[in-house]
Amino acid sequence: MISLKNSDQIAKMRTAGALLYEVHQKLRAEIKPGVTTYDLDAYAESLIRKAGAIPSFKGYQGYPATLCTSVDDAVVHGIPNKKQVLKAGQIISVDCGVILDGWQSDSAFTAGVGEISPEAQRLIDITEECFWRAARQCVAGNRLGDVGHACQEYAESNGCGVIRDLTGHGIGREMHEDPPVYNYGVPGKGLRLRAGMTIAVEPMISAGDWRVTCDPDQWCYRTRDRSLCSHYEHTLVINEEGLPEILSYPGFKWEDVK
Ligand code: MF3
Ligand code: CO
Repeated sequence: MISLKNSDQIAKMRTAGALLYEVHQKLRAEIKPGVTTYDLDAYAESLIRKAGAIPSFKGYQGYPATLCTSVDDAVVHGIPNKKQVLKAGQIISVDCGVILDGWQSDSAFTAGVGEISPEAQRLIDITEECFWRAARQCVAGNRLGDVGHACQEYAESNGCGVIRDLTGHGIGREMHEDPPVYNYGVPGKGLRLRAGMTIAVEPMISAGDWRVTCDPDQWCYRTRDRSLCSHYEHTLVINEEGLPEILSYPGFKWEDVK
């Protein structure tokens, strides 16, 4: 069931999104060689709790941490670890969710650790562009197939793979609500988007094959061919005018994207 949000509810999700954006900005500044993924997790949790919010991942279906930290060939759901020391040249996806005043926000970014290869940077850039192309399709009257297709078309025309086993999702009081938001699709097909829908759009893009495996910890997904993978996610609303507002990116204006 899809729940449409009214303007008061959207305002609360905007506040949650602003907090999450601030947490992400602070985490970005900490990504450097020598830092452990556990350090990042502890920092994120303290920032969220200090703001009077709840880290939504912690305890979700037994997940043990505030962040998912997925390094190199890890796609998503990497569990932070004291023994996992970041090294120059790696890429790390940082995924985080918060609940503030009962309302959720969910967002992820991928960053390089120190200097990274041009190929790794290109993958990060392509993934972000996939997000923006998909998000731009999130207007009332369009269909989810238009959203997925925009992502898939850009990724595949650049020789990258679209992870299919995991998707974006509706979001609101719950982290995962209907509908699933696929990162691939056929234009003109699928659910029609309406004002008041709040969704998390989250392309996961690999430099090689799109197929994944899951680690023995039952959480961390990796590319089967061990190619690099990047993830970028925001929570957005289709506003009263039928246009996308990126709730987890306060101050963002569409004019700012190329
Ligand atoms: N952020 C993930 C998503 O977008 C959810 C993390 S799963 C958890 O769906 F178990 F770690 F919470
Ligand atoms: Co999500």
